[in-house]
Parts: sequence; structure tokens; C-alpha cells
Amino acid sequence: MRIIKTADYDELSRVASNIIAAQITVKPDSVLGLATGSTPIGIYDRLIKKCEEGDVDFSDITTVNLDEYCSLAADDEHSYRYFMNEHLFNHININPANTHVPNGMAGDVALECAEYERIIKEAGGIDLQLLGMGHNGHIGFNEPADEFADVTHCVDLTERTIEANKRFFDSADDVPRRALTMGIGTIMTAKKILMVVSGRDKAETVKRVLTGPVTPVVPATILRFHADVTFVCDAAAYSLMK
Ligand code: GLP
Repeated sequence: MRIIKTADYDELSRVASNIIAAQITVKPDSVLGLATGSTPIGIYDRLIKKCEEGDVDFSDITTVNLDEYCSLAADDEHSYRYFMNEHLFNHININPANTHVPNGMAGDVALECAEYERIIKEAGGIDLQLLGMGHNGHIGFNEPADEFADVTHCVDLTERTIEANKRFFDSADDVPRRALTMGIGTIMTAKKILMVVSGRDKAETVKRVLTGPVTPVVPATILRFHADVTFVCDAAAYSLMK
């Protein structure tokens, strides 16, 4: 694992956006795995700027997002599809047909999950997966569990995640209780992984992820078994590491 410690969130966003831009430059038809949450916003802002300035070309890029809330339609402002359109897709020269987010409204959830796996495989697999990290060490919406989930599946969100994500909703009661997420197995098939973590409130989890036992109780620990992970962490998130 390559660890890049940055002074602050701003530098984290700059470093991570440069890594994604380099991936696109080297392989213009890359399949990018993308993430939501607060942490990637600064990265997406910079990628939009790079695209506007002609430094990055998304025209041959395919994207697959990690996850989506169940029961939220694409045009619901709380859905991850809406988030991605607002924070990235609407502002870059990507073909919307090549942007994929699980369908949280799917009637047949098992079929939707299987279809999502098929989309990833047919696109040639994920070249670079961007990941944020939940306070409990979740990646995508793979919550602490007894075992690592393999493929895209439906999960029940933990109270801690509902608490953490309620800031995007009017109240905790409005946060959907279920979500579709790529599995840990899906994430681990990505050729490269770029993990971004910011803030003092994640320092304890960063320490557990980097130094504790590899366990599904802290899902991000599995990344230590991946051959090509770049972990970009700001000083606050890294503050409990020696
Ligand atoms: C959500 C998303 C995750 C994300 C996490 C952390 O739960 N499903 O993919 O990594 O939030 O988000 P933030 O960056 O806002 O802390």
C-alpha cells in the first residue's frame, strides 16, 4: 500500500485528482469506479476544472459508482445518481450512457445486482476505483459484518451510517434503511484502488485500517490484501499514526 499524507483536505483533493487525471491520460478509455460522500467533492471540482481547461478528456471514459440508496429515484436530490450528476457528470464531456449507478428503484433487486456485475465485467473491469471510508470502516456500503460480501448486493445500513449520512437529509428518519452496493469482491477486482480519507473524526478508523487485524468488522482492512492501493490521507485523519 502506498500512503500519501497531505497537509489538509485541499492538498488531498489535488493529489487524488491528479492521480485520476493521470489514469485518464494513460488510458483514455478507462473504467473508473466512483464514490459519493463529502470527501470526493473537492476531487470532482478539480476534475471538472481540468476538463474545462482541456487537460482531461472524459469522452471515452466509462464510470461505475459504488452504491445507491434503495427506494430513491434518479431525480431525487438525495440519490447518489443525482449527486454524481450534480457534482461531476453534468459538468464534464462524458457520455451519460457510459455512467452507471445501481438502480435503487429496481423491483427485482437480485436481477439488478447481477446486471450491475455484468456491466462492470463487459466494460472490461474497473481500472481505478476511488473509495471514501465510513467512520466504521465501511467501503461503498459494505458495513461491518461477519464476512466480506462478494458481489453487488443489498445491505441494511447501520445506525452509525444513518447517523453520519443524515446531514444530507432533513432528518435521520428520511435516510433510506437499505442500499445497493458493489461487494468487497467487486471492489477488490479493481486493478488500482485510490482511497481518500479526511478529518480527525476518522483517525481512529484509519489506525485500525492500517495497523489492526484484517477483518470484515472493519471492511476497509481488506484493502491491505490488494496489490495496488494508494491511500491518500490528510494530516488530521493520519494523526493517530506514528
Ligand atoms: C457513504 C458512502 C461511502 C462513503 C462514505 C463516507 O456512506 N456510501 O461510499 O465513502 O459515505 O463519506 P464521507 O466522505 O462523506 O465521509
